[in-house]
Amino acid sequence: MAKFLEEKVCIVTGAAGANGIGLRTAKLFYEHGASVVITDVNEQACDEVRGLFDEKRCLVLTANVVSKGDCDRVAGEVMEKFGRIDVLVNNAGITQPVKFEEIQPDDYDRILDVNLRGMLYMSQSVTPIMKQQGVGSIINTSSVSAQRGGGIFGGPHYSAAKAGMLGLGKAMARELGVFGVRVNSVTPGLIATDITDGKLDDAMKAKILEGIPLNRLGTPEDVAKTFLFLASDLSDYITGATIDVNGGMHIH
Ligand SMILES: NC(=O)c1ccc[n+]([C@@H]2O[C@H](COP(=O)([O-])OP(=O)(O)OC[C@H]3O[C@@H](n4cnc5c(N)ncnc54)[C@H](O)[C@@H]3O)[C@@H](O)[C@H]2O)c1
Repeated sequence: MAKFLEEKVCIVTGAAGANGIGLRTAKLFYEHGASVVITDVNEQACDEVRGLFDEKRCLVLTANVVSKGDCDRVAGEVMEKFGRIDVLVNNAGITQPVKFEEIQPDDYDRILDVNLRGMLYMSQSVTPIMKQQGVGSIINTSSVSAQRGGGIFGGPHYSAAKAGMLGLGKAMARELGVFGVRVNSVTPGLIATDITDGKLDDAMKAKILEGIPLNRLGTPEDVAKTFLFLASDLSDYITGATIDVNGGMHIH
């Protein structure tokens, strides 16, 4: 099997959830030869993933992307262990299925903070290192919700946060390209993870599938494979792009 990430050091945030996109991504990157850094705010989940990978090529760190100090600590510990940072996947995210008028100030803050501020802080922590190396790939996990004004499980504040990630990512791509740092975003459709688990009955699922030309929900693997492409040199002339992984749910 061709390996696309040999010698690369890759950080994936929000990657300790057993059924999430992040852990699937870390596994795929590891299979492709990368050293992987898994970060997550959930300490127990972090404890559970320690041991899944050979310690020589893996670091698991409990860290909150909303804390600038935590983000800087992650970058520092990765440099201490591996000496470089090639890829950052901003994957940590939270959602809340409420209607526009129901959004409370605290809800707005936490949804915007984890999804958008977290992307800003973690990217700021790795950027000086990538610039110095003259190479790096930052990948942001937005959502079809940013493009359609709502997915299935996200409220309007989630759409706003995910749309903000697209704008921030494009601006970063413009500024950082000259230093060899690429920045791209992925907009997943409905992906079967804990976010969706148990919340869809058969009738709801059938209705959703009517709007998906490829006639199935997405899997974490579908998104992980796109992250692999953007992390690897296969995409080395691509920056500022938004790649849809939605089975055709939104075609534009
Ligand atoms: N599942 C979908 O249908 C779907 C669709 C589009 C986009 N997304 C996005 O994909 C990403 C992964 O989602 P998922 O479906 O795997 O869900 P998930 O809940 O399994 O993964 C999110 C992870 O982020 C972690 N996290 C939450 N707050 C954090 C913080 N402050 N700091 C660090 N980590 C934090 C959680 O502990 C969890 O492990 C999210 O950004 C989500 O918005 C998911």
